Amino acid sequence: MQNTVNILVLVSGNGSNLQALINADQRGALGTGRIAATLADRAGVYAMERARLANVPALLQTPNKALPITQRRQDLSDRVLQLCRERDIGLIVLAGFLSILVDDIIHEYAGRIINVHPSLLPKFGGVGMYGERVHQAVLDAGEPESGCTVHLVDAGTDTGLILLQRRVPVLAGDTAATLAERIHHEEHIAIVEGTALMVTQIAAS
Ligand code: GAR
Repeated sequence: MQNTVNILVLVSGNGSNLQALINADQRGALGTGRIAATLADRAGVYAMERARLANVPALLQTPNKALPITQRRQDLSDRVLQLCRERDIGLIVLAGFLSILVDDIIHEYAGRIINVHPSLLPKFGGVGMYGERVHQAVLDAGEPESGCTVHLVDAGTDTGLILLQRRVPVLAGDTAATLAERIHHEEHIAIVEGTALMVTQIAAS
């Protein structure tokens, strides 16, 4: 029998992608994976409420704003890594997580951290490209289509190996909000597919 893969889902906001993963876990669509915990980098986000409602441990680790940005990222990353070690986490899923992970966690979990991004990478990725900013940039560029990407996380921002993408058309009259909504629907499918794929690989390794 294959080993259980403990999954940590990192969140910063509404948590609709977390909800898709929770639903998938509950219907057995993550194979031998199970959501072991959720971790937010800010208090009061709805994602944490979703975790509580589903009886998933909801952890909070906020950045230390007294530190300069480089050390702040390192400090938060090291605290997340410590929790991963303590909880025997096999896969980390970034589901709308807005802090940047650096250094040891990236190396120790190489090939075992995935992210969902709301564009067709490599287009419209990188530092500062998140949420509605991405969709506005797509509209401003006059793109005929957009979508979402699930990719491995490496030391860059949105640069890791692409696992899968789902596409949507950009429609006449779209706003950042309407485009975001269409893409969110695809993200909820993509994040489950990407997580299940990684679970299968990790469980077999
Ligand atoms: C999602 O659209 C996700 O792709 C995006 O944040 C949103 C979170 O929504 N992530 C990024 O932009 C990361 N660069 P959710 O909280 O409802 O899952």
